[in-house]
Amino acid sequence: MRFTIATATAVLSALQAANAQTFTACDPTKKTCPGDSGIGNGKPFNTDFTSVSGTDAPTGWTYADGTTMSYDSANGANFKISTKTGAPTISTSQYIMFGNVSTYAKASPGTGIVSSFILESDDLDEIDWEWLGSNDGSVESNFFGKGNVTTYDRAIYHPISQAVTGWHTYNIEWTKDYVKWYVDDMVTPVRILAYDDPKTIKGTQFPQTPMKIKLGNWVGCADAAAAADPKTQGTCQWAGGPASFDGSASYSMYVKNISISDAGCGGTYTYSDMTGSFDSIKSSNEGASCGSSSSPSSSADSSSAASSTTASGTASSTASASTVSSGTTTASAPNSTTTASISTSTVPAGASPSSGNATATGSSSGSGSNDTSTGSGSTGTGATTSNAGGASSSSTSTPQITANSASSHKYGTVELVVMALGLGVGYLVM
Ligand SMILES: *[C@@H]1O[C@H](CO)[C@@H](O)[C@H](O)[C@H]1NC(C)=O
Ligand SMILES: *[C@@H]1O[C@H](CO)[C@@H](O)[C@H](O)[C@H]1NC(C)=O
Ligand SMILES: *[C@@H]1O[C@H](CO)[C@@H](O)[C@H](O)[C@H]1NC(C)=O
Ligand SMILES: *[C@@H]1O[C@H](CO)[C@@H](O)[C@H](O)[C@H]1NC(C)=O
Ligand SMILES: *[C@@H]1O[C@H](CO)[C@@H](O)[C@H](O)[C@H]1NC(C)=O
Ligand SMILES: *[C@@H]1O[C@H](CO)[C@@H](O)[C@H](O)[C@H]1NC(C)=O
Repeated sequence: MRFTIATATAVLSALQAANAQTFTACDPTKKTCPGDSGIGNGKPFNTDFTSVSGTDAPTGWTYADGTTMSYDSANGANFKISTKTGAPTISTSQYIMFGNVSTYAKASPGTGIVSSFILESDDLDEIDWEWLGSNDGSVESNFFGKGNVTTYDRAIYHPISQAVTGWHTYNIEWTKDYVKWYVDDMVTPVRILAYDDPKTIKGTQFPQTPMKIKLGNWVGCADAAAAADPKTQGTCQWAGGPASFDGSASYSMYVKNISISDAGCGGTYTYSDMTGSFDSIKSSNEGASCGSSSSPSSSADSSSAASSTTASGTASSTASASTVSSGTTTASAPNSTTTASISTSTVPAGASPSSGNATATGSSSGSGSNDTSTGSGSTGTGATTSNAGGASSSSTSTPQITANSASSHKYGTVELVVMALGLGVGYLVM
C-alpha cells in the first residue's frame, strides 16, 4: 500500500500538525490482523530475474503502487528512477519466519539515490542492507524492532569495493539467536547481531516476526530545496546531496537473482498474542507437514501461489485447512507448537553472542557516511545526520504515516521530521 503524492501531501500536512503513526497495513502488536502466508521450509524460493520476460511482477512478487520494472538477460531486474518521485519497489508476496536470503545485485550509483534490500514484518521489525549512491566504498547494514525509531545508532557501514558500481552477493542469515550479514560469501559475516546485543534492549528490539523481502531504489534527496529544508536536510546530507534529474539522467539498481529460504513451517503465520515475540508466532503447518524438508510438499511451491496460501497439498496437515487464504487470523493448528524454535536453535561457534561485533564501527570511504553510531559524522550536525540516516532507512521500508491517527502514539520532533522525510521521498511502500 502506497500513498499517492497527493495523499502524501495531505498526510504530510497532518503530520506537521502533530501526530501520526508509523505505517503498516495492520500491526499485530496493536490489533488482530490477518495471518501471513509463509513460503515454508520445503525448498528455497529462487527467482532469476535475468530470465523474466515482460514487465509484470514475476511469480511470487508484488509491485508497490507506482512501480514499473523492466528485466533483461544481462542485468536482471532494473529498478530505474528517472524522476524525483521515482521509487520502484518490489516485495515477496509471502513471508519467512527466520531463514536465509541471498541476492546478487548492483546498487544504484548517483548522489541522492538510495538502494535497499530489506526484510520487514507487519509489526515493523526490519533487517536492512542499504547503499548510498554517493558512496562507492561501503554498504550499510541496519535493523529495527517493532517500528521503534527512537534511536538511530544501529547502522554500520561496511567497507567494500565498488559498493554501487560493482556486482556483489549480499546475504542475510536470520535466526532467533542472531542476524548475520555477509557480502560475497556465507563464511565470514561482516556483521553479527546477537539476540541479546545491548542494542536490542534485551532482545525486545531484535527482529523476530514473519518478514517479507523487499527490494527498492528511491530518492533520498530530491533537489536543492530538500537540501535546504530543515525537515529534509538531515536525510539529504546522509544521501550525499541532491540527486540530479537534468536531461535524461536516470538511476538504476540491478538485481540478477535472489534466493530465499524460509526456516519456518510455512502455511499461515499468525501472531498468537500482541507481544511481537518470536515464540508467539504460530504456523498453520505445525505438526505433520512441518519440518519434513525432504518431502516435496506443500509450501515449497506455494510461493507461486501467492495469495492462495499454503498449498499444503499434503492433505494430511491436520488443521492447516483452507481457511487461511482470506487472511483470517486464526489459522493456527490445534496443538501447534512454536514455529520459531525449529531449526534455528543452534548457534554456530562463530556466533557467540558477543556484542562487540555488532557495535563495531565500519570506516567508510564515502562522504558523510561514517558509522552513525558515533555521531562523529563529517557533516557537522552529527545527531541530525545520524538521525536522518537511520530514520530514513526506516522510512524507506516503513511507509511512514497514515492519515489514521487512531493510535495515540506521540512522536517527537525528530520522528516527525523522519516521517516527513519518508513522505518527501515518496517512498511509501507496503
Ligand atoms: C525504543 O528504543 C529505545 C532505545 O533503544 C528504548 O529506550 C525504548 O525503550 C524503546 N521503546 C519501546 C517501546 O520499546
Ligand atoms: C568479531 O570481533 C572479533 C574480535 O573483535 C573478530 O576477531 C571477528 O573477526 C569479528 N567478527 C566479525 C564478523 O566482525
Ligand atoms: C546469482 O547470480 C550469480 C552471478 O551470476 C551466480 O553466481 C549465483 O549462483 C546466482 N544465484 C542463484 C541463486 O541463482
Ligand atoms: C541458512 O544458511 C546457514 C549457513 O549456510 C545454514 O546452516 C542454514 O541451514 C540455512 N537455513 C535455511 C533455512 O536455509
Ligand atoms: C491435541 O492435543 C490433545 C491433548 O494432547 C489431544 O487430545 C488432541 O487429539 C490433539 N489434537 C490434535 C489435532 O492433534
Ligand atoms: C570516517 O571515519 C574515519 C575513522 O574514524 C575517518 O578517518 C574518516 O575521515 C571519516 N570519514 C568521514 C567522511 O567522516
